[in-house]
Amino acid sequence: QMMGQLLGMREKEKELATYFQIEHCIIVSGDSEEQRKVMEELGHATSESLDFLLPSGDNIIAVMGGTTMAKVADQMTKALSNDRHLIFVPARGGIGEAVNIQANTISSQMAENTGGENRVLYVPEQVSEETYKPLLQEPAVFNTLKMVTKAKCVLHSIGDAKLMAERRGMSEEALALIKEQAAVGEAFGYFFNKAGEVVYKIPRIGLQLKDLAKIPCVLAIAGGRSKATAIEAYMKNAPSQTWLITDEGAANQILKGV
Ligand code: F6P
Repeated sequence: QMMGQLLGMREKEKELATYFQIEHCIIVSGDSEEQRKVMEELGHATSESLDFLLPSGDNIIAVMGGTTMAKVADQMTKALSNDRHLIFVPARGGIGEAVNIQANTISSQMAENTGGENRVLYVPEQVSEETYKPLLQEPAVFNTLKMVTKAKCVLHSIGDAKLMAERRGMSEEALALIKEQAAVGEAFGYFFNKAGEVVYKIPRIGLQLKDLAKIPCVLAIAGGRSKATAIEAYMKNAPSQTWLITDEGAANQILKGV
């Protein structure tokens, strides 16, 4: 029976990857919204995927923030650095998250857990464009941004549009716009409607959606039944090299509508 369940899951993974036209999909059992353990499994599956995908030698890994990414960081170990030199960098400048789930924090945690290095990307949140522009010339900022463009891999999650907008304390105007445009999902500071179109974007430096095309490996880690709509929206136009690492809670909900 175990074998049957496993085969069933492998079928679902193929079905989901085909539906989104992405390279690969991994579904862990259970629903991460209901059981903590499932979140750990998502992290574990991410580490295994990285171990499979990353070549030996130098690897720059660009990372986003969020609670899922924090759990992914928790599951990383020194084993990932066996024949590799890992350098973690935040993929984008701050997009209004609390310190413990900012990309800067996540990348330093990943570096610590794997025995790798990290770089920071310190750019203030709420500043005018005139203040912002010259910062890009600062070597510390400039060099990190250059590394982001050379990343072998990017790790990110996907969130519910409304929840993300609220969590980041976005302006009333932005909240209204997101509602009016019927945004349902968010990733990298971009908001997507059901058709997968970008309807709003937080203007921040670092990785832009179009840059993903040049990154050899893109891992999207997102689970939980309530994230199904968000995952689906983002995945509609996700780059083809994407690996989606999700759970049954989200996967079953998505496949129901297929
Ligand atoms: O803010 C970074 C980010 O990765 C978003 O792009 C994504 O929508 C969100 O975090 C996911 O957050 P969580 O893992 O807490 O649901």
